[in-house]
Amino acid sequence: MQKLFTGLQPSGALHIGNYFGALKPAVEMCREYDGLVMIADYHALTSLKNPDALRRNILGVVKDYMAAGLDPEHTILFKQSDVPEHTELAWIFQCLVTVPFLELSHAYKDKVAKGLEANAGLFAYPMLMAADILLYDTDVVPVGEDQRQHLEYAREAAAKFNNTFGETFKEPKEKILKSIAVVPGIDGKKMSKSYGNTIPLFATKDEITKLVMSIVTDSKAESPENVYAIHALLRSRQELSTLYTENKGKYKVLKEALIDDIEALIAPMRAMRDSISDEDAKRIIKEGGEKARERASKKMADVRTKVGVSV
Ligand code: ADP
Ligand code: TRP
Repeated sequence: MQKLFTGLQPSGALHIGNYFGALKPAVEMCREYDGLVMIADYHALTSLKNPDALRRNILGVVKDYMAAGLDPEHTILFKQSDVPEHTELAWIFQCLVTVPFLELSHAYKDKVAKGLEANAGLFAYPMLMAADILLYDTDVVPVGEDQRQHLEYAREAAAKFNNTFGETFKEPKEKILKSIAVVPGIDGKKMSKSYGNTIPLFATKDEITKLVMSIVTDSKAESPENVYAIHALLRSRQELSTLYTENKGKYKVLKEALIDDIEALIAPMRAMRDSISDEDAKRIIKEGGEKARERASKKMADVRTKVGVSV
């Protein structure tokens, strides 16, 4: 079976854009592969310096994945810091690549441009991500478009290592998750936590109602475009065509239909998420970490021999 690896930073509550754009397609892909899903807590430390928030977010990610249908018996769900081989291998890669090469990173340049502290961890970020992926002889890495360059870095790290120390790492391929569309937020712009225009994935019915009722609509248009765009993720074009034709101009009715459809999607996931205790989540990642470490430590034994630190 081909090997899949993906990761995400534990950076807070997910919204329905994250669900349709990343979580749902990744969970579906995991069913077809020998998969590992990693919570990138050491990556998060490059920007998050609040231990309580980090702890909460880590357990939150476990619950989010479980609620979205990930089966931890089939897919290894673990956190990066439980497998120290990741930071160990990242160091080795950092000794192989040059500073000007890392300076080309778009993610690094963007974050610095936004005024984020340019700490050395942020700078070396792509080498830790390369280690994540390469430790497991990964074939495919499902990620969003914004991560494409990081995959190029991972392939380059593999090639550099192989050229210097002999064939060791497989060059992985990215699988860019092209979501059905970019999910718009309640103001019509791309839904994003940085724009404050999201519908949280695990919102209550009341929260959903309030948010959908506040979706911006153009009173002169025949159909409320921003309502329709979100609706299109939940129902077929044909169903929507009937609904929107029958209720032309009745924005309140259409918004109510959208509320019901979002609630129908979220309610079972919310119930599943609520049924997972912090203790359950901790147990799941602990077990996942043990399985991941078993694989990673075998690979690192070979790497240590190749570079010459095993005497
Ligand atoms: P945000 O923009 O809220 O900060 P992130 O950048 O953390 O979201 O995105 C995490 C994942 O969710 C990425 O893979 C991204 O492609 C996907 N994603 C985020 N927002 C949307 C959206 N509005 N529509 C589709 N996919 C999205
Ligand atoms: N950099 C990714 C993000 O911010 C998260 C990540 C860390 C990752 N390591 C990974 C993704 C390995 C895929 C594979 O979304």
